[in-house]
Amino acid sequence: MNRQKALLHPAAKPILFMACLLPFAWLLYSALTNQLGANPAEALIRATGDWTLRFICIVLLVTPLRTISNTPALARFRRMLGLFVYFYVVIHLLSYSGFDMGFDVGDVVKDIIKRPFILVGFLAFLLLTPLAATSFNGAIKALGAKRWQLLHKLVYAIAGLGLLHFFWMRSGKNDFAEVFVYAAIIAVLLGWRVQQYLSKKRLLANKIGREQLLN
Ligand code: HEM
Repeated sequence: MNRQKALLHPAAKPILFMACLLPFAWLLYSALTNQLGANPAEALIRATGDWTLRFICIVLLVTPLRTISNTPALARFRRMLGLFVYFYVVIHLLSYSGFDMGFDVGDVVKDIIKRPFILVGFLAFLLLTPLAATSFNGAIKALGAKRWQLLHKLVYAIAGLGLLHFFWMRSGKNDFAEVFVYAAIIAVLLGWRVQQYLSKKRLLANKIGREQLLN
């Protein structure tokens, strides 16, 4: 079976769905069997933060991979992957609100205002919410494809805020190695988009120039 056919197989989406749930299942299993280490709450908050950032990178990877490998079928997984970003950030937020703040909304609000790195994370969460809410077909129709696409460009701002949140958190410990790995991945993916945009613009300008010469 070729690549394109395999990706279009009815089982492909359920398989990916299960794969995306694996980190959650592993965390749940580790929590229930006391394998999260000396500080389980911190381990849970950090692991779900890591998985949110990883899923952001995976979502940003879909289009370059689809274009470079000439595999249009990859596009059908983007929405599910995007919703998994939201799934992991909601668990991240709930773990923080529950384990660190005892689900006291007043304390959460005070902490978000007091600690800038949490404020930045929360801002990323707020920006992710309209993307998750408009991920179904009805919303695409209601918004119109152009406006929907424009809205979903927010994913780059979200990636930047997620990185800043991570950087700020790690700056207290002067430990930036992992932050730089994610920053490099996101910079390459963003760079690819910019390069694609510029070459499309150049092609269009050349086409217009040629047409003007002919007229
Ligand atoms: C797109 C949104 C977000 C991303 C990508 C993200 C990502 C991360 C990452 C990568 C970490 C560090 C994990 C590690 O050290 O291995 C982290 C930690 C943390 N995040 Fe987020 N986060 C986001 C949103 C939020 C939100 C909405 C909140 C709460 C309002 C939040 C609160 C925290 C806290 C409390 C920590 C742990 C700090 C510590 O252990 O000292 N994050 N986040």
